Amino acid sequence: MREKVLKIWPEINWIQDPELREQTLQCWIYAIENSVLSPEDLDVIPFSLLIKDCNVSFMNHKRTAVQLSVEIAKIMKNNFGDSIKFNMDHVISGAILIDVGKLIEYDMKDGKLITSPAGKLVRHPFSGLAIADRFGIPAEVQHVIATHSKEGDLGYRTVESLIVHHADFVSFEPFKA
Ligand SMILES: [Fe+2]
Repeated sequence: MREKVLKIWPEINWIQDPELREQTLQCWIYAIENSVLSPEDLDVIPFSLLIKDCNVSFMNHKRTAVQLSVEIAKIMKNNFGDSIKFNMDHVISGAILIDVGKLIEYDMKDGKLITSPAGKLVRHPFSGLAIADRFGIPAEVQHVIATHSKEGDLGYRTVESLIVHHADFVSFEPFKA
């Protein structure tokens, strides 16, 4: 499973800190092992069940959000220098983990992919947080997972979370019906 996850998620190797890199990988291995979906499925299924005729795959959407997060962070660092402070590893790990909880939100019914009743009650920012905590992901990255979605709109977002939130939404909103 390890090799399969690294194949669909080459960006995991962008994380410099070996401990955080391994924890991030373990979260994805755990989520896929507890999902109705395989790593291969993620390259094929549409990224949202809410969008009709969606041709963008789950992994395409997720990897685009990670790549955008890194580019935004780099440009902010280049242009703002010491005026802005953030941890690039936390940006990358957070961006990779924001939707890890979705893997256990899915269910298969009559050969069709649906959101499970539990997934409707406990959305992926929360289930993702539970997975992250299980593998010792630090609070700074847990914050990115917890606040990346609309649930985070009411509270404070760190610089890392702001970057990932916007990168996620620009790779999602254009496809909404
Ligand atoms: Fe999400």
